[in-house]
Amino acid sequence: MASSSNRVCALFGIRTPLLMGAITPKPELGVVVSNAGGLGCIEGISSPEKLRGQIRAFRELSDAPFSVNFPLAFGNRDLVMERARVAVEERVPVVITSAGSPKLLTGMLQEHGITVAHVVAGVAHARKAAEAGVDALIAEPTESGGYRGANEISMMVLIPAVARAVPDVPLVAAGSVADRAGLVAVTALGAEGVQLGTRLVATVEGRDAFPKHAFELILAADDTSTMSADGPTRPRVSKPEFAEAVLGTSRKRMQMGQVAALIDSIPSVQQVFDELFGAGPEYAQSVADGLSKLAEAPAGE
Ligand SMILES: Cc1cc2nc3c(=O)[nH]c(=O)nc-3n(C[C@H](O)[C@H](O)[C@H](O)COP(=O)(O)O)c2cc1C
Repeated sequence: MASSSNRVCALFGIRTPLLMGAITPKPELGVVVSNAGGLGCIEGISSPEKLRGQIRAFRELSDAPFSVNFPLAFGNRDLVMERARVAVEERVPVVITSAGSPKLLTGMLQEHGITVAHVVAGVAHARKAAEAGVDALIAEPTESGGYRGANEISMMVLIPAVARAVPDVPLVAAGSVADRAGLVAVTALGAEGVQLGTRLVATVEGRDAFPKHAFELILAADDTSTMSADGPTRPRVSKPEFAEAVLGTSRKRMQMGQVAALIDSIPSVQQVFDELFGAGPEYAQSVADGLSKLAEAPAGE
């Protein structure tokens, strides 16, 4: 997956098709991801001047490409436009837009040389983003920790459906991936890269960006610990009764994907890269093993 023929790597100028989700406005975690060969992200939810400072702080620590995310539905239109102007003035290489119309910023950002990816949660949404001219699509299924829309479409259906509908636009699978099996699965479905949220929160370097309860909840989670939050973007969050059981209070919650059920350790970001993309022959072997199990099952006479 990590090769120059990979469209996601070529588009973003990265070595490994691993995108960090918009999980924190603090630049340091993104710096580690970008320096490891992926695409670090600054969650663009701060005031325009604070955002400018975060972008500059990133650049002081790394020359590598990175993204800024704009969740378009949050804040008023003027604020979104002001933040976008900061991205232009600071010559941000990549903007990831989510939770809103891809028409709003795509053309304006591209005119200034910025690569634009848009987060989609269904095929109609992906078609609209392609019509708006986005450079890449990030598909967010119902199990992920992100803005999944109202239709609850699973990864198994969303990735192949979007890949079929819009084959010419590079496609990244958002979420549900915490290990190599997950990576192999989304690749088999048609994605050329992954965007990770929950897995990157629960890292050694994530400790500086997230509160202690985030780690306690992710490590304790099983497959029943999350639910849809209310509201138009419907992020997946920890259930109140689960927080009560783990933290002794239901007032704290964490945005996190179902994949938290697979996370039981706090590795470094580099270890996450190694687990997913390291050891090329082993990676190929794991795919081959899966295929040979299929070959053992007769296709029918
Ligand atoms: C704590 C947290 C905050 C997030 N905030 C945003 C956001 O502001 N904008 C956005 O587009 N996605 C946001 N996401 C979604 C991520 O970008 C990513 O797509 C998602 O987490 C992938 O699913 P996973 O958590 O199963 O890996 C957030 C996710 C988490 C866990």
